[in-house]
Amino acid sequence: MTENLVEKLRNDRDLSDKELKELIESDAYDKELYKAADEVRRENYGDAVYLRGLIEFTSYCKNNCLYCGLRAGNNKAERYRLTKAEILDCCEEGYRLGYRTFVLQGGEDPYFTDDIICDTVSEIRKRYPDCAITLSIGEKPRESYERYFKAGADRYLLRHETADKEHYSKLHPDNMSADNRRRCLYDLKDIGYQVGSGFMVGSPYQTTENLIADLRFLQELGPDMIGIGPYITHKDTPFKDEEGGTLELSLRMLAILRLMFPYALLPSTTALGTIASNGRELGLQAGGNVVMPNLSPVRVRKKYAIYDNKICTGEESAQCRGCLERRIESAGYRAVTDRGDVKRMRNRDDK
Ligand code: 5AD
Ligand code: SF4
Ligand code: FES
Repeated sequence: MTENLVEKLRNDRDLSDKELKELIESDAYDKELYKAADEVRRENYGDAVYLRGLIEFTSYCKNNCLYCGLRAGNNKAERYRLTKAEILDCCEEGYRLGYRTFVLQGGEDPYFTDDIICDTVSEIRKRYPDCAITLSIGEKPRESYERYFKAGADRYLLRHETADKEHYSKLHPDNMSADNRRRCLYDLKDIGYQVGSGFMVGSPYQTTENLIADLRFLQELGPDMIGIGPYITHKDTPFKDEEGGTLELSLRMLAILRLMFPYALLPSTTALGTIASNGRELGLQAGGNVVMPNLSPVRVRKKYAIYDNKICTGEESAQCRGCLERRIESAGYRAVTDRGDVKRMRNRDDK
């Protein structure tokens, strides 16, 4: 009976592996799944959609993830770095537009030493004491994470990408490991960051079992934010001939996450908006409650090409802000500009 599986997930915030497999592989539950996800999101967050201003401050990366256009091995990638002054200009514009969270995201770029990161973070902290500062700069030693935290960073985004070690090794070169990624996530949490993790949907070689392992890992980690989006092919990577993830499966996973993690912050991602023109609106209707519009200077936007055909690369920050607000409203929600901290009740322990 279709009804029971969705209701059970909603009530227990959990299902057996076998039941999850059924839910993930069938399209028969979708309508009911989205409806339940939207109800649960409204119970916990009303119609609020939180905005995070994304500043992509370096397109250099020392890593070689097989799926990503910024990989070190892609010599066609155009590289840039923003200066501290440029980053601060982005924050100023963002603050004016109402953003109260700044996300500093970049490849793993050795140019940005811990000293430089801390200097920039503490300046933003000083200028905007009412804002949240989120870092998304990859795997670092625990000591580095501690330094950024002391400098004023409150949140950290690091997707686990895939929880299955074998699958992880098919997506990454030998010098990267699922174990170190986990170590990073647990260090971040232990230090006191609000932590975001997540995975790509439909990445090469991904199985339903892998997706279930992702959900189990997230249950164990208990992140505050979970970012997922479809894998999208990039033409200058070893995966150039691989197919991308579908809208359908991405939305289904988003709705499942909303039912499993009622309080989580779930972004409706740019990747979702890239594979379908109304992808982000549909993502909000399937349980998403965060969007991360681009605040980077327009001249660098196209260069931050982690996948092909990324949206919002030609628009000024203010245009993006307006466009997004209309989209959020058309989907039936309301853009809010406060910090939008996660409801600090734990997703599973508060039953
Ligand atoms: N398609 C979709 N998402 C990607 N990412 C990297 N490359 C791709 C791609 N080709 C995601 C990863 C990373 C995040 C910043 O972007 O999950 O963590
Ligand atoms: Fe670098 Fe991140 Fe791209 Fe991997 S996914 S190559 S770490 S920017
Ligand atoms: Fe960026 Fe529409 S949201 S241009």
